[in-house]
Amino acid sequence: MNCSRGATRVNILQSVQGLESGTAIFNMTLILHKRNRTASQLLAAILFLLGFAYAQPVSKAITTQIDGRNAILLGTDWYPEQWPEARWEEDLRLMEAAHIKVVRIAEFAWSRMEPSENHFDFEWLERAINLAAKHGIVSVLGTPTAAPPAWLTFKYPDTLRIDEHGRRATHGIRAHGSATSPRYRESCRRIADQMVLRFGHNRNVAGWQIDNEYGYARMSFDDVTKNSFQSWLKAKYKSLDSLNEHWTTSYWSQTYDDWREIPIPGEEAEFHNPGLRLEWNRFVTDTWADYQQNQIDVIRQHADPRQFITGNFMGFFDGFDHYFISRPLTFASWDDYVGTGHLDPVGNGLTHDLVRGFKRENFWVIETQPGAVNWAGVNNFLNKGEVRVMAWQAIGHGADEVGYWQWRSALNGQEQYHGTLVGPDGTPVPLYEEVKTIGSEFAKAESALRGTTPVSEVALLNSYDSRWAIEFQRHSTKYDPVALLKTYCRFLSPLSQSIDVISPDAPLQDYKLVVAPSLNVIPDNLAQHLSEYVRNGGHLVLGPRSGMKDEFNALLPQRQPGFMADALGGRVEQYYALEKDFPVSGAWGEGQVTIWAEQLKTLVPDAEVLLQYGPSNGWLDGQPAALTHKFGKGRITYIGVVLDERLMATAAKWMVDMSGVKPVFGRVPDGVEVCRRVGGGKEVFIVINHTQERQPVRLPRPMTLVLEDGEVSAVDIPAYGVSVLADNNAK
Ligand code: GAL
Repeated sequence: MNCSRGATRVNILQSVQGLESGTAIFNMTLILHKRNRTASQLLAAILFLLGFAYAQPVSKAITTQIDGRNAILLGTDWYPEQWPEARWEEDLRLMEAAHIKVVRIAEFAWSRMEPSENHFDFEWLERAINLAAKHGIVSVLGTPTAAPPAWLTFKYPDTLRIDEHGRRATHGIRAHGSATSPRYRESCRRIADQMVLRFGHNRNVAGWQIDNEYGYARMSFDDVTKNSFQSWLKAKYKSLDSLNEHWTTSYWSQTYDDWREIPIPGEEAEFHNPGLRLEWNRFVTDTWADYQQNQIDVIRQHADPRQFITGNFMGFFDGFDHYFISRPLTFASWDDYVGTGHLDPVGNGLTHDLVRGFKRENFWVIETQPGAVNWAGVNNFLNKGEVRVMAWQAIGHGADEVGYWQWRSALNGQEQYHGTLVGPDGTPVPLYEEVKTIGSEFAKAESALRGTTPVSEVALLNSYDSRWAIEFQRHSTKYDPVALLKTYCRFLSPLSQSIDVISPDAPLQDYKLVVAPSLNVIPDNLAQHLSEYVRNGGHLVLGPRSGMKDEFNALLPQRQPGFMADALGGRVEQYYALEKDFPVSGAWGEGQVTIWAEQLKTLVPDAEVLLQYGPSNGWLDGQPAALTHKFGKGRITYIGVVLDERLMATAAKWMVDMSGVKPVFGRVPDGVEVCRRVGGGKEVFIVINHTQERQPVRLPRPMTLVLEDGEVSAVDIPAYGVSVLADNNAK
C-alpha cells in the first residue's frame, strides 16, 4: 500500500469509526442516477403488480453461496507468483488444515500473465489452481488491472493517470492506470479476455473479481477525461441553455457558450459550482462503471454462467455510487479493515449492512485483516478472539465468505508489515489457530446457514447524492452525514436487532420504519416514491437537511422538506449551524441538540410538534424542532436537529414503538449483538459478545446450539464469544 492510499484509508475509517468526534471527512458524495431510478421504479411497480414482496428470502437463490461448496466459506488471498512453485503444496496443505476453502489469486499478477506485449503465460496459474483444487480449495480470479506491468506503462505513458496537479503517476505503485485512457481500457480488456479464454470453463474457478478497489475512484486529469466529461454533459443536458439554467451559471459569470469551456474540478474542486461537482461525481461513477463493464463484457462472453463476477469495495468510501457500480455484478464484496484500535461493532455492522444493501443481497468480505494492517497510524493487533468475533459479525450481517488478506507477506514489496496467517518463514503465526477455529465453525454451521439471509423491518436510507451534496457544503465542519447515519443505527439496531441500509429509490413496502437522517437531495420523483410508501402505511423519518435540493444540486424553490412538505404538514423556516448546544423538550423528554438546528413550523392543524426549543439564540426559542404527521395510512416525522444521546435513545424507542417494530430476539446485555438470518424455513441467531467479560443471555425460547450440541434456553457467552443458535420453531 502506498502512502497516499494509506491516507485514503485513514479518512475512510475516520468517517465510519471516528464519528463521535464529528470530524470532517470526505469531499465526495452521491447521486441517484436517473436511469437507475427509472429502472428500479419500473421493477418495483412490476413486482408490486405481481403481488411480490421484494425481500422474500425464502424463495430467493443466494448467489453468494457456491453450488457444491459450503454455504459459508473461509478464504485467503494467495500470491503464488511471489513464491517458488515447490513451496505451493505446503501453503495449500496449511490452508486445507485451517479449513480454508477459497483463494483469491492473480489480482496483481499482470506482469506474470503477460510478461511482454501480447505474450501470455497462464501455465503457472493453471498449475496453482489445480493444486489448490487438490486441497479442496476453489479459486476466485482477480483481473490484474489495478497493477499494469512496467513494459506497458513505459511504452505507452498515456496509460498512466495524471493527477490534479498535472503530474503523471510513476510506475511501481498501483492504481496508476488511467480509467479514461482508451489504450489502457484496451489493454485491460485484452488481459481479461485471455484470462477468461483460459479459465472461463475451469471447474475449479468459482468466479471473478474485476480489478481491485477501482483505483480508489481516482481520475486522470487530462484532456481525454475533460473531453469525455464535456461529451457526457452534452449527452445528458442536450443544450447549454439547460445546463446553464440548472447550474445557475449566471452566478459569477459562469455561463457556458461552448461545451469545451466547461472545466473539470481538479485542484480547486472545492471552489466549483455545486451543480458541476455533483455531475462530476456522477461522471466519475459512470467512468468506473464503464471501466468495469469493459471487462465484464468479455468475461460474460466466454465464462461459464456458473462463474460469478464481483468487485472489491471499501465500505463507506464515497468515490462513486456503489449502487450503480454494483448493478452488473453477481454480488458485492468488500474489504473490512479496522486499522488503528479495535472493532467498532456498530460502525462495522453498519458497513456490512451498507454493502448488503448495494444489491440487497448477501455479500462477501473478500478481504479482512489477519490481526493487523500496515497502513494505519498505529497498526496494533486485534485482541485474541477479536478476529473470530469479526468473522462471525460478518456472517451475521449477511456475508457468505470471509477472506484473510493475506496468506503470507511477500519478502519485499510495500506491505511487508501487514498481518498474515503464516510468517515469512512459511510457518503459521499465532493467529493461524484462531482462523482455523473459525474455519471449523463455518463448516459446522454450513447446513444451518445455507439459504439464509438477514431480514429487517427497519431501513436506513443512504444516498450518495445527498452525501455528496452535504460534503460539498457542510456548513458546519461538525456535520458528518455518515456519523449521523451511524448514530441512528446505534440507537435503532438494539431495538430492532436488524437494519437494512439501502438506496432511497429501493422498494420500501416491506419496511415498517424507514429513516433518512440527511436526505438532502429529494427530487420530485423521489418524493413521490417516499410519499407512496407513507401513504400505504409506512413510517418515514426524515432527519435534518432533508428535502433541500433537486437532482442538479440546486436549491428547491420551496422550503425544506421541499416536495415532502405537504405530506409532513409542516416545513423548515430557517436552519442554523450551532456553535454550542441548545435545550429542547417535548415528547421524548428533555435534553440538548447539537451541531445543527432547524426552526420548524406546522402548516396544518393535525401536524404534531414533538420537540420544542428552550431559550437558545432568540430565533429558535419556543419553536418546533421535530414534527410528526399522519399521512394516508402511514406517518411522516421530521427531526430538524442532531439530538444528544439521551434524546436519541427515547426518539429511537418512539420510532420503533410507533411503527410496530419489535426486537427479533428480546433483550440482551449491553455489548452483546444479536444477528438473525432466515430462509428455507430456517431461522438462525448469531449472538456475539463484543465485551471482554462473560455475558449471560436468556433466549426467548429453547434453541439448538449450532457450533456445539444440545438444546438450551440460555447461554453464557465468554468474552469475545459467539453463540450460533438455530430456532427450532422457525416458520
Ligand atoms: C486492501 C487491498 C489489498 C491490500 C490490503 C491491505 O485495500 O485491496 O490489496 O493492500 O488493503 O490492508
